[in-house]
Amino acid sequence: MNIKLFGKTKNDEAVLMFELHNKSGMRVSVMNFGATVVKILVPDKNGNIQDVALGYDYFDNYLNDSVYFGCIVGRYGNRIAKGRFALNGKEYKLATNDGDNHLHGGQEGFNKKLWEVIESESVIIESITFAYNSPDGEEGYPGNLRLEVTYIVTEDNELKIEYRGTTDKPTVLNPTNHTYFNLTGSFDKSILNHKLQMDAGQFTPTDAGSIPTGEIIDVKGTPMDFQKEKTLGEDIEAGFDQLKYASGYDHNFIFNNFDGQTKHRATLTDPGSGRVMDMYTDQPGVQLYTGNFLNGVKNGKGGITYSKHSGICLETQHYPDSPNKENFPTVVLKPDEEYRQTTIYKFSVKQ
Ligand code: GLA
Repeated sequence: MNIKLFGKTKNDEAVLMFELHNKSGMRVSVMNFGATVVKILVPDKNGNIQDVALGYDYFDNYLNDSVYFGCIVGRYGNRIAKGRFALNGKEYKLATNDGDNHLHGGQEGFNKKLWEVIESESVIIESITFAYNSPDGEEGYPGNLRLEVTYIVTEDNELKIEYRGTTDKPTVLNPTNHTYFNLTGSFDKSILNHKLQMDAGQFTPTDAGSIPTGEIIDVKGTPMDFQKEKTLGEDIEAGFDQLKYASGYDHNFIFNNFDGQTKHRATLTDPGSGRVMDMYTDQPGVQLYTGNFLNGVKNGKGGITYSKHSGICLETQHYPDSPNKENFPTVVLKPDEEYRQTTIYKFSVKQ
């Protein structure tokens, strides 16, 4: 594994970049700041190896980032309405950083923390583990929480992400990875020509502020139906209210027959480059986000300014605002339990 200094935090701590390889040429770079995926280099149908993960070339841009490129989001991926929830009869007030709502862990989420590095020796696969200890009361959350995230690159061209979390008081936990993919390998191209298939028959509609209403709606007959492969741009301008609120897709989709096992749940294909990304997860849902707020994000890789729809996120997770929705699967973590998540992004090509 190749390790190099990528930058320094505001407190002058070293930010390290770890490059994980496999024998077929896949390379993934991750750093201990935000446990962030910085690069994913994979071949196209002609064997050209290119980066398919949006981000920045220079570390300082990650310090100031507000779009969550590649990072681990926590404690809570996505929104908690009004930054409030009750647990065991006690009301908790979280930091609000998205209008009146709490988004992606608050003012300074896990994406802006320097994580501990735990290296492990393996001659078979390359992996690195990052750990973060979140103190009781941080951003308003109860309990001292420890989250470990392991990135693994396998010989099958998979980026496998394993999460483990523990707490000393009941709390809520819903971490995710916020990589923006663009399978063309050219970040000046839009992802609207990518095709997506997802094993999701329902979604959670939101209000205009992207907070779930609590309803669970069938995707059938709506622009939200990706059960059969469909081009992302096909219905995005359909005038559907849900898509107008978010200026595109920014919704939680519910996987069919959820049972906590790691299953194949989605396939993203770029017909031009032939790159295919298969996604496997044990989570009940995924936030499909089509990079609707990327317009004008400067200092992108190669000096580019990103545009709306330059990247797509498939954030595997529990549903947004679950702490306030009794009909959504629970996100409560108790001291005698261990949180676990496995998500795999597997790359291949189609001629
Ligand atoms: C998630 C949210 C979006 C937006 C992005 C980050 O996908 O659902 O609304 O906050 O993260 O910009």
